[in-house]
This record gives sequence, structure tokens and C-alpha cells, in this order.
Amino acid sequence: LKPIVIAVDGPAAAGKGTLARRLATVLGLPYLDTGLLYRAVGRRVLDAGADPRDAAHAEAAARALQPADLDRADLRGPMADMAASAVAAIPAVRAALLDFQRDFGRAHGAVLDGRDIGTVVFPDAAVKLFVTASVAERARRRFLELTARGVAADAAQVESEIRDRDAQDANRPVAPLRPAQDALALDTSAMDADAAFAAALALVRERL
Ligand code: C5P
Repeated sequence: LKPIVIAVDGPAAAGKGTLARRLATVLGLPYLDTGLLYRAVGRRVLDAGADPRDAAHAEAAARALQPADLDRADLRGPMADMAASAVAAIPAVRAALLDFQRDFGRAHGAVLDGRDIGTVVFPDAAVKLFVTASVAERARRRFLELTARGVAADAAQVESEIRDRDAQDANRPVAPLRPAQDALALDTSAMDADAAFAAALALVRERL
């Protein structure tokens, strides 16, 4: 029996992570936050004092990535967001992370969230969700998340960083952010986390 892979893609702060993690729990599948891989690579480059847009440096960081890098506490914050998006635009970085993601999903099936899971990593995923929300709503959620974690944040700046990251992710030549042709769109702008999860689970159950 082929392991079940569920792809959850979408722009920054659309609530993909929470939703994908809950789907994985209910379906009894492993979960992988693929954004964390790019965040960890970006972090390594920043730690070395290098520029995340430096392709040779970023590729070396991606090849040297260790599982423990994913457990670091400093992978979520404005610096890590933009560094992740910068290294993610480099083709050699994406290539270096591809096998890890595919092996993870193929082993026992999985729910993976990211930007290119349904288009590049698992184009034959059993179900593909493309989760979106308005920029204003995503900025509001990210602002609340940051302040809840005690990170000082400015609402207008959070919104402009989300716009910048969306533009960078959608306009890169390799694996740009876009829905797979057979993805099911879920706009969560008017939904809370429970409603978004219920809607996603209903879509998944229809297809499985
Ligand atoms: O999902 P998250 O916001 O943690 O992702 C951080 C960054 O990593 C994204 O802005 C994007 O540039 C990159 N990413 C990607 N492909 C993925 C997951 C994340 O390019 N599958």
C-alpha cells in the first residue's frame, strides 16, 4: 500500500502549520514543517556572519544541516523569516533539501506543509490543500503570535514583511509559491483555527 501524503501549501502566516499538525494527529501520520528546514539553513548562514543571498554559502549550510538544527528556539522571528525566504530562492539549497523531504514522506506517509509540496516535492500527493487568508488577517495573526511569545512587534511592519516575503516567494524562478493545478483552495480569512481545521479535514476525507 502506498503511504498517504498530504500536501499543505500557502503563503506566510496563513495558519498552515497548525492545520497540518492537527490533520497529521487525527490521521495518524507523521508531520513535517518544511519551512523549518529553510529557516534552519538561513539561521546557519546568519550565524556565520554571511549574507543569506550568497548562494555558495547557503548551499554549504543546507548540505551541512543536522536534525538538531531544527530544534533551535530562534527559528521564528522577523530575521529568520527573511533569511529563510532568501536561501529558499537559491536552487542549490532547494535541491539539497529535496531528498530529506521525500524520504520523510515516503517512509510512512506524512502531512507536509510548505510552499512547493504539491507542485515539486510530492506532485502525486493524495490530497493537496492550498491554504490562504487575506494579507490583513495573516498580519493580524502573526502579530498576535509574536506578541504572545513576548517578541516586540509593530503591526504595520509585520504586515509589510509578510507582503515582502509573499512577493519574494511567489516571484522566484525555482519552485515559486503557487497552488498546484489539482490543489483544493481553502480561504481561512473568516475562520478561526477550529473552523479551518474542520473545513480542511472535510476536504481531506472527501478525497481519501
Ligand atoms: O512556512 P514558513 O513561513 O516557516 O517558511 C519560511 C520560508 O521558507 C518561506 O517564506 C519560504 O521562502 C521558504 N519555504 C519554501 N518552501 C517550502 C517551505 C518554506 O520555499 N516548502
